[in-house]
Amino acid sequence: MEGHLNLTLKIWRQKNASVAGKFETYQVSGISTDMSFLEMIDVLNNRLIEEGDDPVAFDHDCREGICGMCSMYINGRPHGPNRGVTTCQLHMRSFQDGETITVEPWRASAFPVIKDLVVNRSSFDRIIAAGGFVSVNTGNAQDANNLPIPKDDADEAFAAAACIGCGACVAACKNASAMLFTSAKVSQLALLPQGKVEAATRAQAMVAQMDEEGFGACSNTGACEAECPKGISIENIARMNREYFSSTFSSK
Ligand code: SF4
Ligand code: FES
Repeated sequence: MEGHLNLTLKIWRQKNASVAGKFETYQVSGISTDMSFLEMIDVLNNRLIEEGDDPVAFDHDCREGICGMCSMYINGRPHGPNRGVTTCQLHMRSFQDGETITVEPWRASAFPVIKDLVVNRSSFDRIIAAGGFVSVNTGNAQDANNLPIPKDDADEAFAAAACIGCGACVAACKNASAMLFTSAKVSQLALLPQGKVEAATRAQAMVAQMDEEGFGACSNTGACEAECPKGISIENIARMNREYFSSTFSSK
């Protein structure tokens, strides 16, 4: 049943990456429990605009858990308190009337702040560009049974391909490691015949780019898997490590 909330928001405001940011406090009232978290910020922004103030900048696109844009910490957790949801899918019924909610951008040197809650995640794009593709000509779409793929491999590749590039894994990791993201992108191709042709160079190139971008080493805590809104498994990290080391030895 719909209810309404009065909330205190502590939101990180920062004009750009070269100036210091700070938390600003805002009161919002009459927030429907049926609203999404982003709709709640829309309500605040409408008021700020009416009052002649600068609205809070935040990333969003699909608002249905697909694009990975709506990245922010909510009360210290990437995408907020609920498992398996992005910020755009988080509903205000997950909060209590009178609660104080703290909202921050991702904290990682490889994700510099552009403004307020918006960070630059082009480092992820460069990791993909380093090897997250199949460059051989695989021809037209084949009949389903021409290229048999074991069901388990197809399922695992599909699960890895669910990664939306949101960066919550990096935000959750005390070392700001991008191993879960990179391993999902390696795995979705490594598991399929079309991706095996370039498997050796792919793992090497993507890991090298990941390091060059300044992401840290895997902390082995599993925080990335716990906070990933798409349930990407850390088994992908083990697979990427196998791909990486086997390609290291085979190239010697
Ligand atoms: S692995 Fe999960 S948390 Fe990391 S970018 Fe992909 S979807 Fe987001
Ligand atoms: S806005 Fe696209 S995943 Fe949230």
